[in-house]
Amino acid sequence: MTLHVAVIGSGPAGIYTAEALVKQSAEPVAVDVLERLPTPYGLVRYGVAPDHTSIKSIAGYLRRVLELPQVRFFGGVTLGTHVSVEDLLGVYDAVVYCTGAMVDRKLGIPGENLPGSVAATDFVNWYCGHPDVDPSRFTLDTSEVAVIGVGNVAVDVVRVLAKTAEELRATDVPHEVLERLGQSQVKAIHMIGRRGPEHAKFTLKELRELGELANADVCVRPEEAAVLGTDFPRQVQGNIKVLQQWAAREPVGRPRRLDVRFWLRPVEILGTSRVEGLRLERTRLSDDGRVAGTGEYETLPVGMVLRSVGYQSVPLPGVPFSEKTMTVPNAAGRVRDREYVAGWLKRGPTGVIGTNKSDAAETVRTLLADLDGRQRVGSDGIEALLASRGVQPVTYEEWLAIEAAEMELARSLGRGERVKLVGLEAMLRACRP
Ligand SMILES: Cc1cc2nc3c(=O)[nH]c(=O)nc-3n(C[C@H](O)[C@H](O)[C@H](O)COP(=O)(O)OP(=O)(O)OC[C@H]3O[C@@H](n4cnc5c(N)ncnc54)[C@H](O)[C@@H]3O)c2cc1C
Ligand SMILES: NC(=O)c1ccc[n+]([C@@H]2O[C@H](COP(=O)([O-])OP(=O)(O)OC[C@H]3O[C@@H](n4cnc5c(N)ncnc54)[C@H](OP(=O)(O)O)[C@@H]3O)[C@@H](O)[C@H]2O)c1
Repeated sequence: MTLHVAVIGSGPAGIYTAEALVKQSAEPVAVDVLERLPTPYGLVRYGVAPDHTSIKSIAGYLRRVLELPQVRFFGGVTLGTHVSVEDLLGVYDAVVYCTGAMVDRKLGIPGENLPGSVAATDFVNWYCGHPDVDPSRFTLDTSEVAVIGVGNVAVDVVRVLAKTAEELRATDVPHEVLERLGQSQVKAIHMIGRRGPEHAKFTLKELRELGELANADVCVRPEEAAVLGTDFPRQVQGNIKVLQQWAAREPVGRPRRLDVRFWLRPVEILGTSRVEGLRLERTRLSDDGRVAGTGEYETLPVGMVLRSVGYQSVPLPGVPFSEKTMTVPNAAGRVRDREYVAGWLKRGPTGVIGTNKSDAAETVRTLLADLDGRQRVGSDGIEALLASRGVQPVTYEEWLAIEAAEMELARSLGRGERVKLVGLEAMLRACRP
């Protein structure tokens, strides 16, 4: 008998889970991918930077999974709103939660909630055209911006701030966002690490790209680029070398300036009705390896603070969740009887797209071992269930119509291959004219 599995979330973890289920030969399977947005691919569509087109092309691979005859896509269906865990366990043999990590971690410092203090999650959603964020949300009317954090998301955000709108014209950035980027007043960007270059989380390829920006000089202070010792992994050695080369370079007068700073932690975001500055404290590592303040401060006159200090998952109604790890507790992907987890919700918000493939494979191995020889309860019942709730899911064909409308929009604007449609209404109009 066919094994019916619901995968919740259509990011890389969800789609790799569907693929691993279909590709195993032990059981005939039917996989339904339920996604809260009308569009598939999770952070591949709404996270990967618009100018990283080669990475975005991974969507072509994920698409082939959704087109397998054993896989169905149900867009616009939210676990917790339209369906509950009980509903799903009533119609499927197993459920795999793959809802990622969609909110920002907090800094926990005064001024964090001032207007102009922005989570990178929101800023990324804005330039990626996520329906949760209005394209008019940000006006880049300040000359100095601080980006807190030295991970790859911070590097993406810095690059988008540093580039000209013309450089981003051929990308899928929503048109209103592109116009707002074109009106940006930003002249100086400060990227701030609370530890040293040897501890930075960005990867070498991504770091190097900052040195190739046509519109910005990259500046590093020699004293902040200095490191103690030489015994670092190759990637880290590469980062240090690049940063030290930049430290020896003079600015050549490009329109924007990027200051990459280390050993500074944010202690207060200043301002009364909006951000007027960022107070930083110089740091060092204490004997136990923790970041410690030195009591030496400096203030940057920034009008915007972008907090890029990591993402975190949110609990799903009816699903166990650890407030300590901010993940769903699991053993090799097993949560409870017939419930499983994969991706960022399983292991936390780290790792590249490919990491989710082996992660999903592990979860599927656990699922198949558990269900081996068990009575099947699953059916095709989700459609009737959704219809009884008045939910009309976005089908895969309707998603293709949204894609076609995005390509047509790009053509009509004389831009690249695709320009994102923003807002649920616009997407639904495109697929249900
Ligand atoms: C800004 C950013 C840029 C990145 N760039 C790169 C890069 O260039 N290269 C790279 O290799 N990696 C990159 N990554 C990492 C990569 O995106 C992640 O490893 C990967 O997306 C995690 O996959 P996931 O499926 O667990 O989560 P996600 O991709 O977040 O997918 C989760 C899906 O679940 C859906 N969902 C959420 N809640 C519900 C619900 N209640 N019901 C139904 N559906 C729900 C969401 O809408 C989403 O589609 C980036 C990450 C970020 C944050
Ligand atoms: N091109 C790509 O391949 C790409 C692009 C984007 C994202 N990704 C991946 O997606 C994942 C998430 O990336 P991310 O950048 O969000 O997270 P990340 O790699 O964990 O980086 C978070 C950064 O925030 C800093 N930070 C955390 N708390 C802080 C605090 N309270 N004050 C100051 N700084 C703080 C961290 O410093 P500490 O180290 O000191 O904690 C670190 O520099 C990563 O695995 C990343 O590689 C990949």
